[in-house]
Amino acid sequence: MIKKVRKAVFPVAGLGSRFLPATKAQPKEMLPIVDKPLIHYAVEEAVAAGITEMIFITGRNKRAIEDHFDTAYELEAELEAAGKKVLLDIVRNVIPKTVNCIFIRQSAPLGLGHAVLCARPVIGDEPFAVLLADDFMDAAPGHPAVMAQMTNVYAQEGMSLLAVQEVPRSETKQYGIVSATPYKQDLEKVDAIVEKPKPEEAPSTLAVVGRYILNNRIFQYLETIGQGAGGEIQLTDGIAALMQAESVLAYRYAGQRYDCGSKLGYLKATVAMGMKHPETGAAFTEYLKGLAQEAHFLSQKTGK
Ligand code: G1P
Repeated sequence: MIKKVRKAVFPVAGLGSRFLPATKAQPKEMLPIVDKPLIHYAVEEAVAAGITEMIFITGRNKRAIEDHFDTAYELEAELEAAGKKVLLDIVRNVIPKTVNCIFIRQSAPLGLGHAVLCARPVIGDEPFAVLLADDFMDAAPGHPAVMAQMTNVYAQEGMSLLAVQEVPRSETKQYGIVSATPYKQDLEKVDAIVEKPKPEEAPSTLAVVGRYILNNRIFQYLETIGQGAGGEIQLTDGIAALMQAESVLAYRYAGQRYDCGSKLGYLKATVAMGMKHPETGAAFTEYLKGLAQEAHFLSQKTGK
């Protein structure tokens, strides 16, 4: 029997050095896209997939994440006293009451594989999801959230599943790269996976993005693989080891991913969500149209 995916791991211990000084005193996962922190979107995506146990692998400087998903007594009391019902509801309903948050400290930065391994005691004998909050996922219109797409596939196949997308060859050294064989629609069987290969050495240009569903057998491999690329315990290497024992699938999700670990990706996500947001959408879209017209006019004038 294929088990339901009920638990998700959010590795959030990383330093966020690419966003300094913004991340000097706050976690990178708390950077907002319009009005919600990145980690909030990732948790919402897990909730939409029917996941109820959220396991955060945190580190120093990450208290704000715990506070975000906890009750904010003083704030609630003030909003209540001021009769600000709408804001009170927003603050109270960050996550559904049925969802549990579990926080585990990763005391040394030993890599993504190590972060996932830290969740082992609370995962037990179950499959689980991994969501990297700085990969911001916007599902394609008419499709469920990307993690929900993946739990649907898992419910059918019962095999570990990696979200993948094509990337330019020049960028392979930023990703886990898979080579794969067609299996079913949007699904491929992974033949090999390698962490951050140089463009000339990459087996393909099919990159793993930050959404995984893993069978718990991965833990026994993560325990023993040792250091990989960058001297870290790599989740990718654990997956490569798991593949010796069972098949792993690559899933071409329906949606747009924004790399919010980079400034440019973060700006793009902000623009995309700003255009969709109920409060800002119409006015912001108008503003962007104006900018586009101005740019067009200027390029005609200058011939550039
Ligand atoms: C991590 C993984 C990598 C994956 C990427 C997706 O790398 O190690 O395999 O492709 O996330 O964003 P990081 O971005 O943490 O360096």
